Amino acid sequence: MNGFAGRSAGDQTTSDEVIYLDNAATSWPKPPAVGETMCHYLETVGGSPGRGGHRRAVEAGRIVFDAREGMAELLGAPDVERVILLKNATEALNLALLGTLRRGDRVVVSSLEHNSVMRPLRHLEGERDVEVHVVRCDPQGSLDPARLAAALTEPTRLVAVAHGSNVTGALAPLGELADVAHDAGAMLLVDAAQTAGAHPIDAAALGVDLLAFTGHKSLFGPQGTGGLVIAGEVPEPIIHGGTGSNSEAEMQPELLPDRFESGTLNGVGFAGLGAGVGYIVAEGLEHIASRGRARLARLLDGLAAIPRVRVFGPADPERQLGVVSLEVEGRSPAEVGMLLDERYGILTRVGLHCSPAAHRTIGTVPVGTVRLSLSDLTPDDHIDRAVAALRELATP
Ligand code: ALA
Repeated sequence: MNGFAGRSAGDQTTSDEVIYLDNAATSWPKPPAVGETMCHYLETVGGSPGRGGHRRAVEAGRIVFDAREGMAELLGAPDVERVILLKNATEALNLALLGTLRRGDRVVVSSLEHNSVMRPLRHLEGERDVEVHVVRCDPQGSLDPARLAAALTEPTRLVAVAHGSNVTGALAPLGELADVAHDAGAMLLVDAAQTAGAHPIDAAALGVDLLAFTGHKSLFGPQGTGGLVIAGEVPEPIIHGGTGSNSEAEMQPELLPDRFESGTLNGVGFAGLGAGVGYIVAEGLEHIASRGRARLARLLDGLAAIPRVRVFGPADPERQLGVVSLEVEGRSPAEVGMLLDERYGILTRVGLHCSPAAHRTIGTVPVGTVRLSLSDLTPDDHIDRAVAALRELATP
């Protein structure tokens, strides 16, 4: 990993020196075991998981099973077969929504949802007459369970909420929301793209029916990995094909997880995800979450001392992940992002972050914000360098 000790905030960086603060888009760096495990899989294992009985296929299947088992334990799946391995959270959310919602169903979502929830729902509005009701969160981006309850007076099949906002980092009170949804007879779908691996989640204990996760953010796996935990009612498959099981039947098997895993699995990717989960288990998720709060507090405290920087969201490490949206007075987010990259080697994500609804909620359309996002492998020094750079950029 590259550091910047001894350099002043405005020094030019070389191309291989970066301060990576875009972990909400994808985490970097990864623990070394992730790449090593993937190389081992490609160079030595090589078989197709769940396809065939030779030793290499069996070994590949075991590696994927280990990753599935790790995910089941980390996310509180009722059993390991209910962890469906897919390519990302978007695919998982599509499976949950398209596989659950029927013609004329009503669905309630928060006003923080990502396009990975809103676009399938807008599609279902047209295709299946699904009614989509959006509950407005407060300007800090928090969802009040009482507001959700007030939106559930009509029969509702599903409530969908982000556990952690990819724009403000605001955390949703999952247990309370699950109770409110269930009291109204609705299922709860949780988008845990930002929280899985960063914040403890026990889907079964919390009463979450469906939980979508991605592997390449806080779980430290590679891109192209993710999945859906099915704790409650099982959706219908949206993709059909070969599963390596029940090959005599031309109908999709009922068996989980095979029912939802047609086509060759991303064995090398899930090998890497298993290694990412290994890092989290070895460090301890509670420790990771507590270090995350300390790191976020350091960033928020630093930003609070800059008069011309405005931070959006809760600005409270107890209610927020290491995701911070801000604006610098007198400069557009695009300009700030470009200057941070070009002058300081600080990589952030600017704009609307594929979540226009969340930006409407906090009042930052159409330009969006500058987003800084941390991981368990972000050094304190990088946070301090980012604060120093923003102070310089905010100084007229
Ligand atoms: N949804 C991801 C982000 O917030 C990609 O950057």
